[in-house]
Amino acid sequence: MFNSFTIKKYFMRGFLFIFLVGISAPSFSKTGKYRLTLRDNPATSIVIGWEQISGENPVVYYGDVDYGVSWEDYKLNVKPDRTVHYAEMENNFVRLTDLTPNTAYYFVIKDSEGVSKRFWFKTAPMEPDSRLSFIAGGDSRNNPVPRRNANLLVSKLKPHAVLFGGDMTVSGTTEQWQAWLEDWQLTISDNGRMYPVIAARGNHEPNNEMVYHLFDTPSEKIYYAITIGDNLVRAYVLNTEISIAGDQTAWLNKDLAQNKNARWKIAQYHKPMRPHVSTKREGDMQYMHWAKLFYDEQIKLVVECDAHTVKTTWPVKPSTGRKSDEGFVRDNRRGTVYVGEGCWGAPLRANDDTKSWTRDSGVFNQFKWIFMDSKKAEVRTIKTDNAEEVASVPNENPFDIPDKLDIWNPENGAVVEIRP
Ligand SMILES: [Fe+2]
Repeated sequence: MFNSFTIKKYFMRGFLFIFLVGISAPSFSKTGKYRLTLRDNPATSIVIGWEQISGENPVVYYGDVDYGVSWEDYKLNVKPDRTVHYAEMENNFVRLTDLTPNTAYYFVIKDSEGVSKRFWFKTAPMEPDSRLSFIAGGDSRNNPVPRRNANLLVSKLKPHAVLFGGDMTVSGTTEQWQAWLEDWQLTISDNGRMYPVIAARGNHEPNNEMVYHLFDTPSEKIYYAITIGDNLVRAYVLNTEISIAGDQTAWLNKDLAQNKNARWKIAQYHKPMRPHVSTKREGDMQYMHWAKLFYDEQIKLVVECDAHTVKTTWPVKPSTGRKSDEGFVRDNRRGTVYVGEGCWGAPLRANDDTKSWTRDSGVFNQFKWIFMDSKKAEVRTIKTDNAEEVASVPNENPFDIPDKLDIWNPENGAVVEIRP
């Protein structure tokens, strides 16, 4: 039975509770849909992107010492380099340069209304003997559960960069992009650590602007290259949704000629040359303009997407000889390894078009986990469905394979090794 005294007592307790919460809660600014992207070497630069939901005059406060949300203690601060209203969001981008390699940087976003949570990232290493970790995949468009699982695994594998090969959403509507960026928040580790995306365009992105406006890519045409580490890797992002002949391939030729000193050259683009799904059209333009160029210039690893099935190939070279299959023969010494093809949440398709030079193939939700140093690359295919159970790699060692990680172990072995 409540008498008036009891009611008064509970009322006062409730009032005290609200009062205490009110004075102790920090005033978080209304920012969200955080993302890190790259315009240049992740050893020395990063782009911090976010949506400004309310409040004005945002400033990123950052430095290599963690001051939590005490924004005034951070050594450095910078205003957005670019603000673009797109997909009904005010997308802000701060382009940080001159960073120290292999260093943790902490940041908050402060605006007229408050301060964000504290986030951090670690720049890539720059020593000649360093090793890099990448996640590469794409096609996250339809199914939220596998998409979120793969995102969650990013937060646990802590790569130096994520190569995302297009078809993020079904058709690039405002609603779909906002949901995608919301899901991308799952790539942020528990302690606020973030990882940069190297974005490519797929056929479900109706135009180039969409990728440029949401990821602040270094090219408005969405073909570009980024050097990672001390010339350890030159990563090419190509665009299969615009003309392959002409300007794009001319640029690729020129850039390859100018970057002969890169230890590794790798490429990602959306539509495969030779999809492993029979209903998918052959990528004859990619084959005609890029296959020989990749071989001649020793691009040793190519990540393709779009077909929503799983493949790794043996190293191959273009050939139309008697022993060739769909324009390639195996060449263990100098060939290019092609891996793919999507499966970050798009509907899976049967792998019903394998070739004589296919190494292994399957059908499941997955991305590739790639380690590279000056002597060797290792590519593993990671099944993403059990993301919740997987442990995290330590912050200091992203190569320490975590408990319960579901590494695909097909007939020809779990690890594809490639020499530069
Ligand atoms: Fe596609």
